[in-house]
Amino acid sequence: MRIGMLTGGGDCPGLNAVIRAAVRKGIQHYGDEFVGFMEGWRGVIDNVTMPLDLKTTSGILHKGGTILRSSRTNVKKIPGGFEKCLETIEKNKLDALIALGGDDTQSISLALSEREVKCVGVPKTIDNDLSGTDVCFGFDTAVTIATEAVDRLHSTAEAHNRVLVVEVMGRDAGWIAITAGIAGGADAILVPEKPIDIDEVCRLLKYRHDHGKKFAIVVAAEGAQFPEGGQATQGTSVDSFGHVRLSGIGQALAEEIEKRTKYETRSVNLGHTQRGGTPTAYDRMLATRYGVAAIDLVHAGKFGQLVVLKGTQITSIPIADAISKTRTVGEDLFDVMTSLQPPKSTV
Ligand code: F6P
Repeated sequence: MRIGMLTGGGDCPGLNAVIRAAVRKGIQHYGDEFVGFMEGWRGVIDNVTMPLDLKTTSGILHKGGTILRSSRTNVKKIPGGFEKCLETIEKNKLDALIALGGDDTQSISLALSEREVKCVGVPKTIDNDLSGTDVCFGFDTAVTIATEAVDRLHSTAEAHNRVLVVEVMGRDAGWIAITAGIAGGADAILVPEKPIDIDEVCRLLKYRHDHGKKFAIVVAAEGAQFPEGGQATQGTSVDSFGHVRLSGIGQALAEEIEKRTKYETRSVNLGHTQRGGTPTAYDRMLATRYGVAAIDLVHAGKFGQLVVLKGTQITSIPIADAISKTRTVGEDLFDVMTSLQPPKSTV
């Protein structure tokens, strides 16, 4: 078969591992040929390609980013976009297309599936917010980086008797914040799923201070909600999928905490550091399993499907089910978080 492949949306560690695994299994076990599209859907619209073979996918397993590059190109917003995609697919004589991406990228896979294109999706996002899969590759690496940052910030916070507010990514889901927060032993964790309760944050910090620890760490998800509603944003412009850039909650919280508690407070925004660099062993393994599963799905003729992880097993679900709703943090993890904090009755 001739199979196209692309990576769309924000990059994430493990993309190259998926590409390598799919190409290796496809060429060596099924006799497939591959066409790599550059910069997500933009490459399909403009027919910009690179060869994907055993040579071009060699030595990339441990590398972050994506050899196919990425973009947030929304085919729906480009006049004649879908027609151009169909032309490219025809020109390259493709039998199938594998798209690696989150909900925005997969919404285009779905629209193309509805136009008879044989698409298979692979769930990618450090935010871990795609429904239907227990884990997206890239998440483990982002959490590992954020946890290491929280560990490192402890010593400098302690040396200066400071509160440090660490802002992490995640868009409208608090997976990175709650996981890195609990794993890193943060004193307060703020996520988009629960509106910020600044009185409660200050109570936790004051309790800690009064019990002998003159420093503290707060982890805040970039998408944490102000009590009156709304999120901290950088400007008002939106990307082609309508997302505003989230940023600034860490600084806003640091100012408010210092004002209320009088403890010296600073903020650190981990930003794109969380997405860069080499994937963890867990992400390399998961990405490799997804790559193999994607090519097997193509050969099983199961199109319009997304490979997913359920428990410890790789399986697949309709792409439509994966993008219908953001997967957010459940009460079980909030319970773990609050179990580690002094209850409200303790002042
Ligand atoms: O969706 C992944 C993500 O890293 C989010 O956590 C973040 O809000 C966003 O992408 C940032 O995207 P960029 O800076 O690449 O536009």
